[in-house]
Amino acid sequence: MFRKLLGSILLVLTFTGFSGVIKAETTMTVLVTGANRGIGLELVRQLRAQGHQVIGTARNPAEASELKETGAVLVSLDVADSNSVRAMAEELEGQKIDLLINNAGIMGHSAKSFAETDFDQVVTTFDVNSLGPMRVTQALLPNLLAGKGKTVVQISSTMGSITNNGGGYYGYRASKSALNMLNKSLALELADMGITSIVLHPGWVQTRLGGAGAAITTQESVAGMLAVIDELGPEDTGRFLDYQGKELPW
Ligand SMILES: NC(=O)c1ccc[n+]([C@@H]2O[C@H](COP(=O)([O-])OP(=O)(O)OC[C@H]3O[C@@H](n4cnc5c(N)ncnc54)[C@H](OP(=O)(O)O)[C@@H]3O)[C@@H](O)[C@H]2O)c1
Repeated sequence: MFRKLLGSILLVLTFTGFSGVIKAETTMTVLVTGANRGIGLELVRQLRAQGHQVIGTARNPAEASELKETGAVLVSLDVADSNSVRAMAEELEGQKIDLLINNAGIMGHSAKSFAETDFDQVVTTFDVNSLGPMRVTQALLPNLLAGKGKTVVQISSTMGSITNNGGGYYGYRASKSALNMLNKSLALELADMGITSIVLHPGWVQTRLGGAGAAITTQESVAGMLAVIDELGPEDTGRFLDYQGKELPW
């Protein structure tokens, strides 16, 4: 997205015959949810290192010391709580956002078998993983429309792929499948407004959610995802990609 946006600015300057030295505006404003630890924190770190302005959300900003150290603006947000989402949107009223990364998520009740599955807890998992990103995107639509980047990234999972289902984890898998479906509908509708919205699998990552035995570090995952995001254009809206840019089956 960033590279493509810069490319179009330079193209316009070429057509207008401009030949002086320009200092193109390449920094963007990015909002990352669930930014106090794991993948979200690393997203903020790498985006800050690239010089971007970042708003990082946390359920408890007072305890988010590592996030504070990045220089990001801290905002309080529980994606499962409509009042909290509304308060966040009010706090950010008038703030342009180029890129929204809906990263906050939970494994929830991690029973592997159907017999052990607690459906009351599955409801909570849906509330955070499927509806949370929709609440946040809806609340921040004016901010996204005011920004130049006009990009939304939902951090989903290959575990939400019906084709790749290896069994178990009923709540988590279904919550990410639902997120994928919600994003597809959203992408179709927001395309008319010039917004690109994709679902992105970060890989199996060493975090509290992924576990210490996961395949890759947060640094590898995030570097890959930011490279994928960098190349996004309107033609990509609605796609399901992984951190290496590979298309995943629904
Ligand atoms: N790690 C993996 O292997 C993997 C694989 C595929 C997809 N993912 C996805 O990647 C995303 C990030 O996961 P992670 O591995 O970094 O997990 P993590 O280390 O457990 O971090 C999860 C983050 O989400 C926040 N969060 C949880 N519930 C929230 C709520 N109701 N409102 C706002 N924030 C909330 C947490 O905040 P608190 O500190 O307040 O709990 C934390 O900041 C998730 O969407 C996950 O499903 C991860």
